[in-house]
Amino acid sequence: MARIDVTDAVQSLGPGESRAYAAGADEIAICRGDSGVFAVADLCTHAHARLTDGFVLGDLIECPLHQAQYRLDTGELVDGPECPALRTYKLFEQDGRWYVET
Ligand code: FES
Repeated sequence: MARIDVTDAVQSLGPGESRAYAAGADEIAICRGDSGVFAVADLCTHAHARLTDGFVLGDLIECPLHQAQYRLDTGELVDGPECPALRTYKLFEQDGRWYVET
């Protein structure tokens, strides 16, 4: 398990924004939803569109291609075409820095 410093990405996020972050083989979307900051896989499980090209809506992220909507906290699919849940990553703050575990 790797711990990656994503402080710059987190601090650059305004409300409802997302940033793509590549960490080795992991392509991660760091998102600021209504309830805080979350890290989820950046590729939609339906047809692999990039979710950071989509929209953060409250505590959901919506795919730009066919509008699948996933919960940012659990990755659960809540609307759109049938597809698996989205991978989520642990995101946490420690000593003023933000980290993702992959
Ligand atoms: S590629 Fe995301 S909903 Fe189809």
